Amino acid sequence: PAMQNISGRSQLEKDLQATLGISRVIVTSGDSDVRSWVKKEMSQACVSEMIDTLEPNDVVAVAGGTTLATLATSVYPHPNLQNVTFVPARGGLGEDVDLQSNTICAELARGAHAQYRLLHVPDQLSDHAYDSVIQEPGIRELLALIRSPRMVIHSVGEAQTMATRRSADESKLRRLKEQEAIAEAFGYYFDSEGKVVQKEKTIGLQLDELGRDQMVVTLAGGMSKAEAIVAYMTYRPSDLLITDEGAATAIMGTQ
Ligand code: F6P
Repeated sequence: PAMQNISGRSQLEKDLQATLGISRVIVTSGDSDVRSWVKKEMSQACVSEMIDTLEPNDVVAVAGGTTLATLATSVYPHPNLQNVTFVPARGGLGEDVDLQSNTICAELARGAHAQYRLLHVPDQLSDHAYDSVIQEPGIRELLALIRSPRMVIHSVGEAQTMATRRSADESKLRRLKEQEAIAEAFGYYFDSEGKVVQKEKTIGLQLDELGRDQMVVTLAGGMSKAEAIVAYMTYRPSDLLITDEGAATAIMGTQ
């Protein structure tokens, strides 16, 4: 569709707020499936939000993916970000190192001249090793930070796309299809009713522990993510959705 003017976008924002039950939505122009600058514009809106909201000593948990990688290249030093600590939302999810939340966390901190902590836990651990690792004092202390941050910033992906990107085997892909998984966020897979149908095994933030003290910012755009965004928001409406026209018009078109 043709790009909308500012008033067209603010109408889309209002429509999405009402449809998805989210208190704030920001829609930037374009479609990030088609043009790479669109992720940059969504990221810039997110950086402004971080500067407006964050205070010294706040902890920000960040997820991985290409959208968050763009956020990391868009952030810049600002007094309000200086004493913020970035932490990864969850441990490894089987992604390439560039897209892992640890990497993005360190790059965000570097770009903002802020602080960061990393979660050094291997992806593949036996249950026994896993149970003892999470008892380590350093890991426990970090997990406590990760589980009650001031802000959480993450994206949402389409379930099959994400499972494939993490090299899931045939049987896992088939199972996700049978369960009608549509969305993925933080290593959780959701169906269209917002029900969690599978979880990747990793430590860190537990979605059901997120409370009112956490401001959850979802940064996700592109027409291909429309259904995934709706499914995820049915599970838990975020405090702020930053999306693009591609996703926004597709979501409103299906309602
Ligand atoms: O794997 C981390 C993650 O944040 C997923 O939870 C999410 O589905 C995905 O990345 C989004 O990736 P992208 O921004 O590349 O679409």
